[in-house]
Amino acid sequence: MPVTTIHVPVLLKETLEALDIQTGGRYIDCTVGAGGHAEAILQRSAPGGQLLGIDADPVAIALAQENLASFSNSALIVNDNFVNLSQICSSHDFKPVNGILFDLGLSSMQLSESGHGFSFQHGAPLDMRFDPNQVLSAADIINQYSEADLARILFEFGEETHSRQIAHLIVRARPIYTTDQLASLIEHTFPKHSRIHPATKTFQALRIAVNEELRHLESALQQSLELLGNGGSLVVISYHSLEDRLVKNFMRRESAGCICPPSLPQCICHHQPRLKLVHKQVIVPSLAEEKVNPRSRSAKLRVAERIISCEEWPEAACRFRVSAGKERGIVRKTAKKYLSFGTTLNLN
Ligand SMILES: C[S@@+](CC[C@H](N)C(=O)[O-])C[C@H]1O[C@@H](n2cnc3c(N)ncnc32)[C@H](O)[C@@H]1O
Repeated sequence: MPVTTIHVPVLLKETLEALDIQTGGRYIDCTVGAGGHAEAILQRSAPGGQLLGIDADPVAIALAQENLASFSNSALIVNDNFVNLSQICSSHDFKPVNGILFDLGLSSMQLSESGHGFSFQHGAPLDMRFDPNQVLSAADIINQYSEADLARILFEFGEETHSRQIAHLIVRARPIYTTDQLASLIEHTFPKHSRIHPATKTFQALRIAVNEELRHLESALQQSLELLGNGGSLVVISYHSLEDRLVKNFMRRESAGCICPPSLPQCICHHQPRLKLVHKQVIVPSLAEEKVNPRSRSAKLRVAERIISCEEWPEAACRFRVSAGKERGIVRKTAKKYLSFGTTLNLN
């Protein structure tokens, strides 16, 4: 295998710790890629551990199947988008689970293999789809969207301060079919002043728009809550500020007791926390890891633990729902019967 196609799993030790891997536990890797994290999860949860690995890219799936071949009895690999997470788990009867991992973005293979057109460093058609069966490609956006829509995409998904000027340039230069055409068009007007290529934000914005990355992530995080057992871990590694902000806000919202606007004198939302923040601070790679694997430089890991409150108990357990006194013991026992991973009961 050429060196460029080897993907080194990012924050591996920290991910395993955050997932709190249990022998015989059940885990979902929503972005299995080449199977680096998945392999370590399977090793640590053996004997009896099970892993469901999902990836939208069929090339990644083939690689994961090859790399995880020795775990064929405990690994189930599915080529699909994680936006369909609940449905995938239902059809494979894979819930509840002890942990769910999202290692977002691109693998080193996807970046270095020119076919996908993710990088401006390799001349390739403007494609950027994880799933080759998807209809919309980056070339469609570049050549068919209005100047206003292009500017909005560059601003919203790339935080590009020159979004309007770049959109104008693109519309004047169309048709544009390749990554190097697009990169040199931008570089011509905004010459490179630093290590960062002036087309970086444009490429990020296009990739996010093509794959609807933020919408899919928000939806999959929400679905994760229904799949995690009590005490299960939700672990997300993100690589840019838009993703990280979305994950941070999701975890904050779901771990809050009340989400009413601060101006209200009294709580009217009756929001029940469904997550507990394990670390308030984000986890980032050590300098040693950054040195060995420069791709890890922008990684940020966030982790939260699922807590299942009385409000969420299955109906039969609700008969025992009480708020205080010795009956709490009954609640605890009953809940344990219904919840597979009864470690943290949120009795409120
Ligand atoms: C950073 S790589 C994962 C690498 C993996 N953790 C490993 O150790 O080999 C991210 C993977 O997520 C996949 N991916 C991104 N968005 C996805 C989505 N919405 N659904 C499924 N897979 C997705 C990409 O195709 C890519 O293979």
